[in-house]
Amino acid sequence: MDEARTRQIIELALAGGWLCPSVRAGDRGRALVVHDLDRVQSRVEELRAAFPASTLHAVAIKANPVGGVLDHLVGLGCGLEAASRAELRLALDRLPPERIVYDAPARTMDELRLALESGVHLNLDRLGELERVRALLGGARPRGRIGLRVNPGIGAGRVQATSTAVAGSKFGADLLHEEAEIIEAFVQNEWLRGLHVHVGSYGMSLEQIAEGAASIAALAERIEAAGGRVDHLDLGGGMPDEGGTFAELAGAIEAAAPGVLGGERGLVTEMGRSIHAAAGLALSRVEAVRITGGRRLATIHLGADLFVRAVYRPAWWRHRITVHAPDGSPRQGPKAPWDVVGPLCFSGDRLAKGLLLPEVFEGDIVAVHDAGAYTLSMWSRYNSRPAPGVLAVTGDRAVMVKAEEAEAEIVGFWGA
Ligand SMILES: Cc1ncc(COP(=O)(O)O)c(C=O)c1O
Repeated sequence: MDEARTRQIIELALAGGWLCPSVRAGDRGRALVVHDLDRVQSRVEELRAAFPASTLHAVAIKANPVGGVLDHLVGLGCGLEAASRAELRLALDRLPPERIVYDAPARTMDELRLALESGVHLNLDRLGELERVRALLGGARPRGRIGLRVNPGIGAGRVQATSTAVAGSKFGADLLHEEAEIIEAFVQNEWLRGLHVHVGSYGMSLEQIAEGAASIAALAERIEAAGGRVDHLDLGGGMPDEGGTFAELAGAIEAAAPGVLGGERGLVTEMGRSIHAAAGLALSRVEAVRITGGRRLATIHLGADLFVRAVYRPAWWRHRITVHAPDGSPRQGPKAPWDVVGPLCFSGDRLAKGLLLPEVFEGDIVAVHDAGAYTLSMWSRYNSRPAPGVLAVTGDRAVMVKAEEAEAEIVGFWGA
């Protein structure tokens, strides 16, 4: 987010009283997550412009499940991709089933039944799920579309933990070793009509994503040559949030699999991070500043609870951090190395180590950028601190779409 928009958003949060940098405000306004809905809209428009108009863009709920954000996506004409029963509920409360995609690696029979009864687009995660679906259907035709996720075995991207198209992956039928069984599954089950691929997230290159798409497009041809039918291709998500545009992704897919984007088969995408990450700004008061052991520490109210990935694997995930005076203006002046540390009870709860920043004061505001994806959705309960509220911003209008978690909700989580 550029400096002007960051400042505007901080000023909106201050003016509305949602962010209170003064330490005298106590609990009130200590931390907040802001989601820039204009930025979401422009990303969705770029995505739509790059793919055929009939493509279902089912945005991955796991990246950001905040209700007001999902409503905005639905208003923009997006579908939703769910990965659990509750995510399915979030989607079914907002959309007709044909605009919902359901992918998950550990589904129970009850979850499969719900998916079949509701008529969502169900992607089976492995060949073993076919038997369960057959049993649940009992010979009836499914209401929704059913596809099969395939692991094309193209290898890892930059981030091992989010690479899925690798040997031994827990996701997808193994195309390299189970192709004959996959083709047979389509021939034997005429309701199995889709192929799904998601090669990984964040660290994948456009070429790797395109290679995944090309592999299912070619497989679809082989399935049809054997007598099965494939009428939709789900290309997954995984677009890096920097290092390529959606138009470039479409170009890479077209180069690897000519004709797929304008072809007969329906298309689905499941973007998450690339829609949301840059729209999110996490803001915290600087609650404490101390100089100890030769290090300068700024302690804020968000740490490994909101930034699980960045704190535990800083080599893979990092966030830009800026510091602002209590009126929102960026702090200026000579820079020195600072550690920006979170509120949790372990030393490793640190967002930045030795980051060059202007002098930081208690009651300043720390802004953590690119915080819109896989942050609040991965919220950690450690130390039982409240999940921050979420402010949605459109132009110069700000609306609180999720309140800070109440103490009673946290206490309730731990049981009576
Ligand atoms: C099946 C599936 N689809 C889509 C996504 C979204 O990926 P990204 O946020 O990288 O676009 C994920 C992420 O884990 C996924 O597992």
